Amino acid sequence: MDHQPKEEWLEIKTDYHKKQFDTPYRSTVLFCKWLEQKGLLNGHDQQAILDIGAGQGANLNYMAKQFPQCTFTGIDLNESLVNQGNGYFQDHHMSNCRLLQGDLYRLDPTHIGKYEGVVSYQTLSWLPEYETPLKKMMELNAEWIALTSLFFDGDVDCTVTVKDYTQSIGGENFRQSYYNIYSLNRVKEFCRQHGYTRFESVPFEIDIDLPKPDSMGMGSYTERLADGRRLQISGPVWMSWHFVCAQKE
Ligand SMILES: C[S@@+](CC[C@H](N)C(=O)[O-])C[C@H]1O[C@@H](n2cnc3c(N)ncnc32)[C@H](O)[C@@H]1O
Repeated sequence: MDHQPKEEWLEIKTDYHKKQFDTPYRSTVLFCKWLEQKGLLNGHDQQAILDIGAGQGANLNYMAKQFPQCTFTGIDLNESLVNQGNGYFQDHHMSNCRLLQGDLYRLDPTHIGKYEGVVSYQTLSWLPEYETPLKKMMELNAEWIALTSLFFDGDVDCTVTVKDYTQSIGGENFRQSYYNIYSLNRVKEFCRQHGYTRFESVPFEIDIDLPKPDSMGMGSYTERLADGRRLQISGPVWMSWHFVCAQKE
């Protein structure tokens, strides 16, 4: 079922996307390293990779530089981001990257082609629930699916609706978004039931400090723990980032 409010994604946050082309997020760099350690991405296999909720394609750009023999397709709802990203790829002669406008809830496997791997960066937790989007991804029948989002290593799912009154959208005096935290056990079982029987996850621990934003709204920053590890916080939410991967046997 698709009960997704779409307005927040049709607005353009060009800065958020553009700055990642210059400086990829640490999560992107370390996620790709993790996929490489697991042998899912490497310097020789010519895989076709699909990125769901790809935004303007900054993560396609990063992956294409690391794994130039692969081809990268991104799908995003926001047509304007897709057009800007495709313009960037054309200007930079990145012929192995392309973006398509599309809705992840209406993916047509026969139309978008066959992929060895599906990735999705920081998108699943910003959707109303995980079952439908994951099912849509699994229907594409790729060998593996890997994503970054907020997860809890236990049997609790949290549906978190954030209203940020420092921003406004769609005629409201706030911006509303999900910051859902999903149970790793439940997600693992859901993937198993759909034929993705090998499941792995690791917490993502950021390795740089992020300053606290001046605004009193959402925006990621870090706090140090006594043992040196960093917690990532956004507004009132602890960002329990994980990398997860589900594979067919
Ligand atoms: C939090 S952003 C993450 C963007 C990008 N993956 C990144 O790491 O910067 C979520 C992205 O998912 C896209 N999105 C949201 N709902 C979608 C849907 N139903 N179908 C396709 N894309 C969607 C949004 O337009 C947005 O670009």
